[in-house]
Amino acid sequence: MSLRADAKPFDSAETASIEELRALQLARLRDTLSRTYERVPHYRAKFDAGGVHPRDLNSLADLANFPFTTKEDLRQNYPFGMFAVPMDKVSRVHASSGTTGQPTVVGYTQGDVGTWARLIARSIRAAGGKPGDRIHVAYGYGLFTGGLGLHYGAEQLGCTVIPVGGGFTERQVQLIRDFKPDIIAVTPSYLLAIADEFDRRGINARDTSLRIAICGAEPWTEGMRDEIERRMGLQAVNLYGLSEVIGPGVAQEYAASKGGLTIWEDHFLPEIIDPETGAVLPDGEEGELVFTSLTKEAMPIVRYRTRDLTRLLPGNGRAMRRIERIKGRSDDMLIIRGVNVFPSQIEGVLATIPELAPHYILEVSRPAQLDELEVIVETRLVLGADAEAALARRAEHLIKALVGVTSNVRVAQPGAVERSQGKARRIIDKRSKERS
Ligand code: DLL
Repeated sequence: MSLRADAKPFDSAETASIEELRALQLARLRDTLSRTYERVPHYRAKFDAGGVHPRDLNSLADLANFPFTTKEDLRQNYPFGMFAVPMDKVSRVHASSGTTGQPTVVGYTQGDVGTWARLIARSIRAAGGKPGDRIHVAYGYGLFTGGLGLHYGAEQLGCTVIPVGGGFTERQVQLIRDFKPDIIAVTPSYLLAIADEFDRRGINARDTSLRIAICGAEPWTEGMRDEIERRMGLQAVNLYGLSEVIGPGVAQEYAASKGGLTIWEDHFLPEIIDPETGAVLPDGEEGELVFTSLTKEAMPIVRYRTRDLTRLLPGNGRAMRRIERIKGRSDDMLIIRGVNVFPSQIEGVLATIPELAPHYILEVSRPAQLDELEVIVETRLVLGADAEAALARRAEHLIKALVGVTSNVRVAQPGAVERSQGKARRIIDKRSKERS
C-alpha cells in the first residue's frame, strides 16, 4: 500500500526531498565524526589505527572506510567511557542488560532527550496517533528505554500518558477498561498476554477503546500482527529502535501504509553490511543493519553493528528509506545440524496452523553428536492427546518442509508456556553447557 498523501507529517523534516536529506546527512555526519574523534579517546584510537580521519569524509559513501563499533566496545568502556560530553552535561542514562556480561550504558544530554521525544512524537503520529489521544505505556520503565522513551514522546505530541509499565497483567486490563486509552505501547508478546487476560475474565478484548498498538522491542511476524489485530480489534504497527542508537524511535511503520518501517534518516544513517566480511551491501540486499547517529550529543555512535538482520527498502511517500521487518538477530540464529534457523521462521510456520497459539519456545540441545531442536507450542483450546500428537506431527512436517530442519514438536496445553512481561524469551540453548 502506498502512503496516503493525507498522512500528516509531524514536522517538515519528515517530508524533506532526497537532495535536502542527503545534504543534511553529510553535514551532520561530518560534525559527528569530528566530535567523536575530538572527544572520545576510544574513537580517536580506533580511527588512528584504521588510518582514517574525519576530514577524509567527502561523501556519505566514505563512511565505509571508518571502523565499526560493537557492543563489546561499549562494554570495554563501561560505564561512561563512550560519552562525548562532560558528566555534568549528561541529564539521563539508560542501560540495556543484554543476555550476557556487563550492561551497556548510554547517555543523553538535555538536547538528546528533546530530540528523542520529538522522534517518538513523530513515530506516534506516523502510527496514527494524534494530540489528545490517551496512551497506555506498558513498556518497562527504568533503565530500559521503552517506558520513558514512549512517555516523553507522547507528552511531546500532546497526548495524555498513562505510565503503567510492564507486569501486573490483571491491572493492565482493569486500567484499559477504566481509563479508556486510544493507544497502547507494548511488546507484541506482552500484548498477547494481555489479550489472554481479557479472555480469562470473559471480556471481549475487541470492545475496548484501543485503536492502535505500537509494538516493538522484539522480533515479531505478520502472523502475530494478524492475531493481535483480530483479537484486540485494533491496528498494530511496528516500532524499532535500540538503546545504543537512542532507544525506540529509530524507525516506525506508518499506519497508513504498513509494510516496512521508515527510518528517521535525518538523525540515523543506516547501512546494510555482510555480517561475515563487513562489506557494505547495496540497498535491497539482506544483511546486518548498521547505524551512525547524526545528531546525538552525549553518546554519538559511529557504524554501530546492531546484529539485526533486514534489508533497506526505498522510501514510501518519503525520501527516507525503510527497513523490512527485522528477520531476527544474528546472535539468535540457531545452527541446527548446519541449517541456519531464526525463531521468526518457526513462528511463521506455527502461525499457519489455526489450532496452535502464538506462544512457543525453542529448546536446542546436543545429547549426543547431533543438535536437536524441540519446539514447545501451546494449543488454543484444551485438546485430547491424539489431537495434540496429530498437530505435533503436522507442525514437524511443515517445519521440515518450509524451514529445512528436523524438529521435535511438543504440543502443550493453553497456558503452559511462560508469558513475557516485556521481551519474550524464545530460545533455551542447552548446548554450551552440555559441551563444557
Ligand atoms: O528494545 C528499544 C525499543 C523499545 C524499541 C520499545 C521499540 C519499542 P534494546 O533493549 O536496546 O532497545 O533492544 C534493541 O531489540 O537490536 C532488536 O534486536 C530488538 N528490536 C527492537 N525493536 C524491534 C522491532 C529496545 N520492532 C533490540 N522488531 C534491537 C524486531 C526489535 N526487533
